Amino acid sequence: MYVVLMAISIEIFDTTDDLARHVISLLTSAIVEIPADQTFSLVLSGGRTPKLIYRHIASICKNTIDWTRMKIFWGDERCVDPRNPESNYKMAREILLDHIPIPSSNIFRIRGEADPVEESIRYSDLFPLNVKVQQGILQPDFIMLGLGEDGHTASIFPENIELFSSEKLFETAEHPVTGQKRITATGKIINHAKRVVIVATGEAKADVVEKIIKQLDGFDRLPAARVQPEKGAAIWLLDRAAARKLHF
Ligand code: 6PG
Repeated sequence: MYVVLMAISIEIFDTTDDLARHVISLLTSAIVEIPADQTFSLVLSGGRTPKLIYRHIASICKNTIDWTRMKIFWGDERCVDPRNPESNYKMAREILLDHIPIPSSNIFRIRGEADPVEESIRYSDLFPLNVKVQQGILQPDFIMLGLGEDGHTASIFPENIELFSSEKLFETAEHPVTGQKRITATGKIINHAKRVVIVATGEAKADVVEKIIKQLDGFDRLPAARVQPEKGAAIWLLDRAAARKLHF
C-alpha cells in the first residue's frame, strides 16, 4: 500500500521480510542512479529494527552491490566501546559488514569509545571529505533511520529536539532515561540526504506512528516528525503492526 502525505510516502508491508526486501530495492535503485565511477554514501541506523534488514542485505547483496563503491557511515552511535553489545557499529559489523566484501577503508565508524564532543567534531569534519556536495548541499545518498516509541530518530530525542536544527553535522546527545551519551547526525545530514528511509515495525510503534502521520496534538515536538527531506519525500516503511492505527 502506498500513500503520500505532505513530504512523506508510506509503505506498509505484511511481513518484515517484505519490508527488508523493499529496503534493498530502494537501495539498489538509488545506487544505479549514481554514475558507476562515483562512490555511494550509505548512513546506517542503530537499534534492533535494522538487524533483519542488514541480514537480508548481507545475504542478498553480497555479490550484487559493488561494495568497493560504498562508503558506510552511521546516523548515530552510543558512546560505548565498539565491543560493547550496545554499540551500533558492533551490531552492523556482526550482521552485515563481516559478510560483505567491503574495504575497511570504506567504513567510517563513529568512535564510541572517544570523548563525545571531540568525536562529534572529528566525525563532522570527516563526513564532508567523503560525501558528495550537490547544488551546494552536503548530500548523503541514502540514510536509514529508526523510530523510537518517544518519537526520537537517530539519537535526537524530544528532550533535545533543537539538535535537529543545529548548524553542526553531528552533535552529542544523551538518552533521556539512561543518560547514555550518544553522538547523532543533525537535521543538516538527515534532511539533506537524497533518500531518507524511516523504518518502524511492531505494535510498540503504532502510537507514535499514528501521532506523527496523522499530525496529532504534539506531533511537531517529535524529532521524527522533523524528518522532512529538502528534496523528495521521507519514505516511511512500516509493518502492519506499526501501521495498525493508520486505517488507510
Ligand atoms: C539507536 C538508533 C535509534 C533507533 C530507535 C529505534 O541508536 O538506538 O539509532 O534511533 O533507531 O531507537 O530502535 P529499535 O529499532 O530498537 O526499536
